[in-house]
Amino acid sequence: MNAPGLLLAIESSCDETAAAVIDRCLRICSNVVCSQDELHRQYGGVVPEVASRAHVERIIPAIDEALRVAGVGLDDLAAVAVTSRPGLVGSLLVGLTAAKTLSLVLDIPLVDVNHVEAHLFACQMSAGRPVFPAVGLVVSGGHTLLFDCRSAVEFEILGSTIDDAAGEAFDKGAKLLGLGYPGGPAIQRAAAAGNSRAVKFPRPMIDSPQLDFSFSGLKTALLYEMQGTSHGRLQPGALEPGALDPARVADLAAAYQEAIVDVLVAKCRKAVRRTGRPRLLVGGGVAANRRLRECLAELAAAESLEVIIAPPNLCTDNAAMAAMAWEHLDRGRRAALDLDVSPNPIRNR
Ligand code: KG4
Ligand code: ZN
Repeated sequence: MNAPGLLLAIESSCDETAAAVIDRCLRICSNVVCSQDELHRQYGGVVPEVASRAHVERIIPAIDEALRVAGVGLDDLAAVAVTSRPGLVGSLLVGLTAAKTLSLVLDIPLVDVNHVEAHLFACQMSAGRPVFPAVGLVVSGGHTLLFDCRSAVEFEILGSTIDDAAGEAFDKGAKLLGLGYPGGPAIQRAAAAGNSRAVKFPRPMIDSPQLDFSFSGLKTALLYEMQGTSHGRLQPGALEPGALDPARVADLAAAYQEAIVDVLVAKCRKAVRRTGRPRLLVGGGVAANRRLRECLAELAAAESLEVIIAPPNLCTDNAAMAAMAWEHLDRGRRAALDLDVSPNPIRNR
């Protein structure tokens, strides 16, 4: 079925409360993202209970603002889309409850969207044309996943992280280096003045034939490097704020970023060669990373591959990318009002 009218999309899987209005041609009429960064900064990471409470306060204002910016009312909506997985359960439930209520009251279809798949659908939205089939890499604070994307609604996981996600590695590394939260942009900024060859960090699992990732050892390697224990000498107080000089911090940030990027690009190369897909889609917050973008451009040239990276405003969490709900609506898919949320990325429709 082709639902006319507008889609209201709601996203609350982690620490952004987001709502967007998208038309059938994937035109973004509004894309409102209320960040909670200031609430979580003092902890150096997202605190689930703080996040879900903040979503409760922000969800209705975010929806109102999305409708206001789009210049439409509730009666103009043809369907409501919502992220149901994966994410923090308490956070997901806030968005789901709002979406179910609107679906029931307005008597319009409810469609659930897988957040990691939506990160890849963002590539189709920016390209403005069909981009599937493709290999997909989702790199965010909670996930590092490689997909074989057969179509806009058929995703098979080829590999995932066995411990920390790539974004988590950026966030934890930045915390160790005293660079603040969120860590990805902070490390990118610090790395700009550094020499990525000053320190040689490990590239975990880079030579394994599997398409899985591991980043927790890298963070430990950074810790040892900062303490001086990687050279067998412990420098007392090395982890105190301001203990390292800014040039050393810049070098460590650049080398650490380079190690994460190297592993991500090597696994993408392997996945593309293995599947024979002509295209690589990249989404999620870490896809905003400048060095990753540079190295993916080199990969595209070397492998004669089309690489489509979601634009920065569609890389980090947002509701507009949940416009992939139109693909489900076209296939007659609807969610029932007893729909539940899940922390797991694998859909069991
Ligand atoms: O997709 P996202 O907004 O939220 C999740 O679903 O997790 O991703 C957030 C993650 C954080 O770990 C943040 O540090 C990272 O994306 N990030 C970056 C950059 N911008 C955001 N990592 C590296 N470089 C960036 N420029
Ligand atoms: Zn995300």
